[in-house]
Amino acid sequence: MNLLITGGCGFIGSNFVRYWLAMHPDDRVVVYDKLTYAGRRENLHDLWNSSQLFLVEADIADQESVRNVCRAHQIELIVNFAAETHVDQSILGPLVFTETNVRGTHVLLEVARELGLRLHHISTDEVYGHIPDGHQSVETDSLAPRSPYAASKAAADQLVQAYFITYGLPVTITRGANNVGPYQYPEKAVPLFSTNAILGELLPVYGDGRQMRDYAHVYDHCTGIEAVLLRGDIGEVYNVGTGREMTNLQMVDIVLETLAKDDSLVQHVIDRPGHDRRYSMNVDKLRKLGWEPKYDPRRAVAEAARWYAENRWWWEPIRNGEFQEYYERQYAARLDGKAER
Ligand code: NAD
Ligand code: DAU
Repeated sequence: MNLLITGGCGFIGSNFVRYWLAMHPDDRVVVYDKLTYAGRRENLHDLWNSSQLFLVEADIADQESVRNVCRAHQIELIVNFAAETHVDQSILGPLVFTETNVRGTHVLLEVARELGLRLHHISTDEVYGHIPDGHQSVETDSLAPRSPYAASKAAADQLVQAYFITYGLPVTITRGANNVGPYQYPEKAVPLFSTNAILGELLPVYGDGRQMRDYAHVYDHCTGIEAVLLRGDIGEVYNVGTGREMTNLQMVDIVLETLAKDDSLVQHVIDRPGHDRRYSMNVDKLRKLGWEPKYDPRRAVAEAARWYAENRWWWEPIRNGEFQEYYERQYAARLDGKAER
C-alpha cells in the first residue's frame, strides 16, 4: 500500500511512521509535512535512507500540492496527523489553528473525494470538552470543545463525518488521549516538566494541578490507529487511550521520581484560561477490534521522562533555539508571579 502521512515529522506522526514501516515493510510511506516549529526531520533520523520513505515539505491547505503528490505517488490512503496542536499556542495565536486544522483537513477531504482515496483522521479527546466525574466519553457523545485548538479539531472531526454521510467517502476517525513518549516537542507538559527537571529549572504547574488527564503511551496510539486501519468499520469513530486518568500533580511526582529530583522544583502558577478540568474516555469500542494498551499511564509517563534524560541530543537544540522566545512569553510573568488573567 502507498500511504500519505500528513504531519509525519511531528511527535505522533513520526512514531507512527516508524511503527508502520517496522510492521509493514513492503508499504511505501510519503510524509507530507509543512515542517513548522513542531515538525522535525530529526524525528525520523534513523529512517531517511529507507527506500520505502519519502518526504514532501508542503502545506495540507495547498490543494494543488496535495493532489499532485497523491497522484505522483499513487496514494491509496491518507492518514492525517498534520495540525497545530498546542492549547497554549492556540490561546496566544488562534487563527493558524483554523487554517491548518479546519481548512487543511477540508482540503484533504476534497482531494480524497476527487481521487477516490480512503482518509483516516486523527482527532482528540479534547473535542468532548471537560468531563464531569463519574462519566467517560463514548464516541456518540456530543462534542463540546472549549479552547480554540479543541474547537478547530471538533470542526475537522465533524467535516470528516459529513463527507462520509454526504458523499460516502471511506473515512475513519480516532480520538486520542494525551500522548507521551519519544520526540514530543517540549511545549507539552510531560516533556516540558522532564526537561526542566533535568535542567534544574522550576516546573510551572497551572492552577491547583488537580486537572485530570489520561497519559497514554504514543506506542499504544499507533497500535490503536493500526487496528482501525486494518479492522475498523468505515464511517466509524474510535476512542484511543488507557481509560485511566491521573492528576497533573501525580504526573509531576512520577517525572520527579524517575529523574531523582525533589518537589522543591514545583511552582504553582496562574492557570490556563478555560483550562479543561478532566478528560476521560471509554475505549471499549476499540478493544472490540482486538486492541489492548500495553502501557499503564504511570509507566508511560516514567518511560517518557527517562527518554528525555537519555536523549538530550534531541531536545537541547530546541530548548536553546526559537523555543526560548515562546517560553519567555508563556512563562516569564507566570513564574515570577506577575501574570494576570
Ligand atoms: P505535533 O505538533 O508534534 O506535530 C504536528 C505536525 O504537523 C508537525 O510535523 C507539523 O510540521 C505538521 N504541520 C502543521 N501544520 C501543517 C500544515 N499546514 N501542513 C502540513 N503539515 C503541518 O503534533 P502531535 O502531538 O504529533 O499531534 C498529531 C495529531 O494528533 C494532531 O492532529 C493532534 O491534534 C492529534 N492528537 C494529539 C495528541 C497529543 O497528546 N499530542 C492527542 C490526541 C490527538
Ligand atoms: O488530550 C489530548 C490533547 O492533549 C491533544 O489533543 C493536544 O494536542 C495535546 O497538546 C494535549 O493537550 P493538553 O492541553 O491536555 O496537554 P498539555 O501537555 O499542554 O497539558 C497537559 C496538562 O498539564 C494540562 O492539564 C495543562 C497542564 N500544564 C501544561 C503545561 C504546558 C501545566 O500545568 N503546565 C504547563 O506548563
